[in-house]
Amino acid sequence: MLDIEFVRSRFIKHFDGKTGKVYVAPGRINLIGEHTDYNGGFVFPGAVDKVIMAEMRPNGTEDTVMAYAIDLKDRVDFKLSDPAGPRASWARYIYGISKEMQKLGVPVKGYNIAFAGDVPLGAGMSSSAAMESCFACGLNDLFGDNKVEKWDMALAGQATEHNYCGVNCGIMDQFASVFGQAGKLMRLDCRSREFEYYPFNPVGYKLVLINSCVKHELAGSPYNDRRNSCERVVEHIAAKHPEAKFETLRDCTWEQLEEVKDEVGHEDYTRAKFVLGEKDRVLAVCDALVKGDYETVGQNMYATHEGLSKDYEVSCEELDFLNDVAKECGVTGSRIMGGGFGGCTINLVKDELYEPFINTVKERYTAKFGKQPKVIDVVISDGARKLSD
Ligand code: GLA
Repeated sequence: MLDIEFVRSRFIKHFDGKTGKVYVAPGRINLIGEHTDYNGGFVFPGAVDKVIMAEMRPNGTEDTVMAYAIDLKDRVDFKLSDPAGPRASWARYIYGISKEMQKLGVPVKGYNIAFAGDVPLGAGMSSSAAMESCFACGLNDLFGDNKVEKWDMALAGQATEHNYCGVNCGIMDQFASVFGQAGKLMRLDCRSREFEYYPFNPVGYKLVLINSCVKHELAGSPYNDRRNSCERVVEHIAAKHPEAKFETLRDCTWEQLEEVKDEVGHEDYTRAKFVLGEKDRVLAVCDALVKGDYETVGQNMYATHEGLSKDYEVSCEELDFLNDVAKECGVTGSRIMGGGFGGCTINLVKDELYEPFINTVKERYTAKFGKQPKVIDVVISDGARKLSD
């Protein structure tokens, strides 16, 4: 994990020499359950040991935030009362979460903040949720007597994406970053918000991410289009069944989807088909995990990749290639992780196949695309928290 002294030294140097309090929040992995969160389905994420770390201190002003992005060496000052907010995309997370925490009744005033991170950007590991959760945790502590509940902090992070960053995301990433626990994955029902922790210790296997280094970017991307497709299908189904309540695809059956197949068009139909299948796969994986049946976990991961690539169309040549190589190497399970359009694959690999797989994938990817993929080992870790007073 990042070194607290590194962040602290920059905070001291960059501002007035005083120290603040230090907060941290992680990125996440997701074993299975992709694009299901905004459809009211299930997800199966866990927080990781890659984090955003921020030092923060009230600066005595009414509403001036002085922010320094250590990794970018970029400084932005803005006023919370400015309705437009800052332009720099990283600063919009700070502005957005401050506004959302204010809406929750936290009397956020001016503060100084310096932050850094080792969550790879654009890798689909949710560096943005890590920022939101980290800053929310800090604001809750500094200005709110820690009165805001964890769920509200996660929702404030999601609202930041919706209202200030242009991504109509679901709740998975912020949930994982806030609620994560070391050594445990979490199965979240995104409709009821009930969740359970699942100890994850696949003896004889490793979980490894391979970053295609194709930068995934959700803002202004077809991510929101996918969500719109799903919502259109729900509207069609609801119109046919005025007696029932349909809020998301979670409320719809395979039969109901078939009923509207012709009227919704091929693209929306295949997208909805993926979502219904993915809901079943998460449940199958949970059962398999309890039984220690990693072969079934892996088969479902491959099926998810296939669906994300062919039906949901959020893959790219590089990710499909990584998936093919994993299959050829005998990797137990492999798939795109996160929103797609670049970023990582997540791979469940038998211990003895780990080295040969890593070597083969590096060699073949570099030969084909002229750039190295990055291997990211992850440890399932704790969620957002204060590190130091
Ligand atoms: C992004 C979003 C999440 C989720 C995933 C896809 O990470 O932020 O809400 O929709 O994509 O599963």
